[in-house]
Amino acid sequence: MAMAPEHNPAPIGLLAELTHRCPLRCPYCSNPLALDRRSGELDTAAWTRVLSEAAALGVLHVHLSGGEPTARADIEEITAHCAHEGLYTNLITSGIGPAHAKLDGLVRAGLDHVQVSVQAADAGEADAIAGLGGAHEQKLTFARRVVAIGLPLTINAVIHRGNIRHVDRIIGLAVSLGAKRLEIAHTQYYGWALVNRAALMPSREDVDRSIATVEVARARLEGRLVIDLVVPDYYALYPKACAGGWGRRLINVTPSGQVLPCHAAQTIPGLEFWNVTDRSLAEIWSASPAFQAFRGTDWMPDPCRSCDRRERDWGGCRCQAFALAGDAAATDPACSLSPHHAMIQGLAAAEADAEPPAYAYRTMSRPTVADPA
Ligand code: SF4
Ligand code: FES
Repeated sequence: MAMAPEHNPAPIGLLAELTHRCPLRCPYCSNPLALDRRSGELDTAAWTRVLSEAAALGVLHVHLSGGEPTARADIEEITAHCAHEGLYTNLITSGIGPAHAKLDGLVRAGLDHVQVSVQAADAGEADAIAGLGGAHEQKLTFARRVVAIGLPLTINAVIHRGNIRHVDRIIGLAVSLGAKRLEIAHTQYYGWALVNRAALMPSREDVDRSIATVEVARARLEGRLVIDLVVPDYYALYPKACAGGWGRRLINVTPSGQVLPCHAAQTIPGLEFWNVTDRSLAEIWSASPAFQAFRGTDWMPDPCRSCDRRERDWGGCRCQAFALAGDAAATDPACSLSPHHAMIQGLAAAEADAEPPAYAYRTMSRPTVADPA
């Protein structure tokens, strides 16, 4: 069995971005600006090899994601291979289109868990955010089937200015669907979401109200629904341990086989990523320059270097530090101890106060913004 070096713990989760193809056009999409084309996607043999290598490395959970993972013709085969390797599978799906026809096959293949995204509680509002008419009803039908089959269901709702005042109704929807878990995830501004930040940024008052709503619901629904809350970075006191800490717990494999320490790592210039078509996952995990770049605490500047939270949040998010401070090695500006913190607070307040622009939607074939950079 291939093992990571002792000083470097094995990863526990692998995010398999099977494809960037997706029927939806969510303005908060955190996938990169340059999406991988179908012609560049790893084939079935490459994915099954990678998943076997992941199991050997110690990975326990595989998130089958995208884009829309059921757009892949081999999604059942990939899922069955995970089951064969003893990997717990979580299908992260829009619940649209091919997901319906493939659900029974996925159950037979040994799928363990399903996560369905919803954009809002009401169809009109949800479809406007997703950029696809009829999407919400399809999602609800799919989610009900998942529960009827007996698979555990998580509902994921990305929260922003367009739906933040209806968090209570989203919680009600998750309860009515019979979900076991609900993720109330405030928008993270990476990839396409950064393009739409001014349209998505909520006010501090709305953020505070939504967090209070979640806290009340958590107490009321204890034992019935678990509610996870991802708080909004721009209004935080301290940052999150992004990806559980760089190169500590998670591996992200893109549709074309690039192996990343986090979802947005390719936004950081100068990092060298290795590809599963050239090297084993174990070698990439232990020795890839991109994974080594911000692993542990040696790379940290002050104030992180001397901070007693440095092994709790690992300095926050490297991608956000680059996007907002222009330096991936800087303390995450979401941290109140960062010299850039006042800047992002001012930026959030200014965007939340201003009249929001229309969403910029995209598709792989018909981008509606010429040059978002
Ligand atoms: Fe975390 Fe660094 Fe802020 Fe300390 S200074 S709380 S380690 S981001
Ligand atoms: Fe890359 Fe946070 S998204 S480190």
